[in-house]
Amino acid sequence: MGFVKVGVLDDVPPGSALQVETADGAVAICNVEGELHAIDGICPHSGGPLGEGALHGRILVCPFHGWAFDCVTGLSDAGDNLRQATYPVKAENGDIFVNLR
Ligand code: FES
Repeated sequence: MGFVKVGVLDDVPPGSALQVETADGAVAICNVEGELHAIDGICPHSGGPLGEGALHGRILVCPFHGWAFDCVTGLSDAGDNLRQATYPVKAENGDIFVNLR
C-alpha cells in the first residue's frame, strides 16, 4: 500500500496529537518535540479516539478514561501485553504521510 497522505503538519505542532481517518481506520499522529510518531487511533479499552487525547512527552492519554500509551512503542500502562500497532510516518513539504502496510 505504501505511504498515504493523512494530514498537514500545521495541524499537529510539537507537543500535540491529531486523530486522522484513513481507508484502513483511525490513526493517532503524535508530534514529540518535532518528531512524528503514529499509532492505531482506536483505544482498545472502549474505542476512544486516542489522537484527540493529551500528549505528555511521548505518552498519549486516551480522552475517554485515561489509559496511557507510549506513542513510540505503542505500549500501554494498562496491561503487560497491551500494545497498539505503530506505523511508519513522515512529513514532506508540510504534509503528513503514514504507511499502514
Ligand atoms: S476508551 Fe480509552 S481509556 Fe477507555
